[in-house]
Amino acid sequence: MAGFCVLGFLVLAAAAAEFGAGDEKVSREDQRGEREEDKAAMGFLMMPTYITREVSKANIPLETIWNYIDYMDAYKDFTLNPVSYAEPALRAFVDELHANGQHYIQILDPECSFQNLSSGAHVAHWTGDNKATWEDLQYSVASVLNSGIFGVPMVGADICGFAGNTTEELCNHWMQLGAFYPFARSHAETLSNSQEPYLWESVAISSRKALGLQYHLLAYMYTLMYEAHTRGFPIARPLFFGFPEDSMTFTVSHQFVLGNGIMVSPVLSPDPTSVNAYLPEGICYDMFDFSNKWRGYESLCLEWNSTHATNSLGPCNCL
Ligand SMILES: *[C@@H]1O[C@H](CO)[C@@H](O)[C@H](O)[C@H]1NC(C)=O
Ligand SMILES: *[C@@H]1O[C@H](CO)[C@@H](O)[C@H](O)[C@H]1NC(C)=O
Ligand SMILES: *[C@@H]1O[C@H](CO)[C@@H](O)[C@H](O)[C@H]1NC(C)=O
Repeated sequence: MAGFCVLGFLVLAAAAAEFGAGDEKVSREDQRGEREEDKAAMGFLMMPTYITREVSKANIPLETIWNYIDYMDAYKDFTLNPVSYAEPALRAFVDELHANGQHYIQILDPECSFQNLSSGAHVAHWTGDNKATWEDLQYSVASVLNSGIFGVPMVGADICGFAGNTTEELCNHWMQLGAFYPFARSHAETLSNSQEPYLWESVAISSRKALGLQYHLLAYMYTLMYEAHTRGFPIARPLFFGFPEDSMTFTVSHQFVLGNGIMVSPVLSPDPTSVNAYLPEGICYDMFDFSNKWRGYESLCLEWNSTHATNSLGPCNCL
């Protein structure tokens, strides 16, 4: 097989914002606080409208609002909470979404166990309640890949983490990875601090870049969904799916391929100075800058400069 990988180095999707001095962090937290006050001032009924408008203002692609179970009346399926999701306000919200070519989907959580594996042919799944930690960011890669193999191709982990409070850096790198989950959804617990992607400049930059690329790839993604539906292939695949003759790929669980053409090599730890990537056979192009290309059968160590978001290939041995 002529392996041809086009390499989407999310690691290069880099936050241009600076993870700098403590003072800066405080002032950025203040800004975030002010935006949170703005949101609270809108009142609960207007929150979805407010958030959607702010995402658009920040120029972050947003196709669908997924409502979690809070919309239900006493968690009964097919009902609406008459107070927090009063019908006239919800209708106005949905009309505004539709007028902008956006979609609204209510998540069903009927508390039934997930026994029939062929259900993956019909529904999307999230990987379960995760935590806003680096460990769960790392684990999400294997979790999404496993689900794909089990027959649930339309799958993703809660971006930025569900339980606990996320941080700017974690949310930033999680968005860079999560934009390429087949099912990309940011989601947090009610008690957690807000994590809308426009709340931090670095996360907004990464969201525009990573989600923007994902939107450019929609035709490709839809083809993979068709293949998943008709032939059962996962959308997000371990490297060994695309390159089974290359035993170096067998143990790689920190990278994945979308179909066989696009490889994602995310940052999975805080404050990285480099990211390791294994390139199988073929010529790999950097999706964010096609003038960068590498020959396969190679381990790369990408030097990562989080202060200035400049990157260069370092001559180091990894893997
Ligand atoms: C699983 O679902 C499929 C289609 O949705 C159905 O044809 C099949 O009978 C189900 N299997 C079991 C064991 O319920
Ligand atoms: C998250 O932050 C809020 C304050 O913003 C705090 O009240 C809450 O306890 C924090 N949650 C966790 C799990 O640390
Ligand atoms: C990051 O890049 C900036 C600008 O090119 C440079 O001044 C700085 O030394 C670099 N930092 C590291 C750790 O390489």
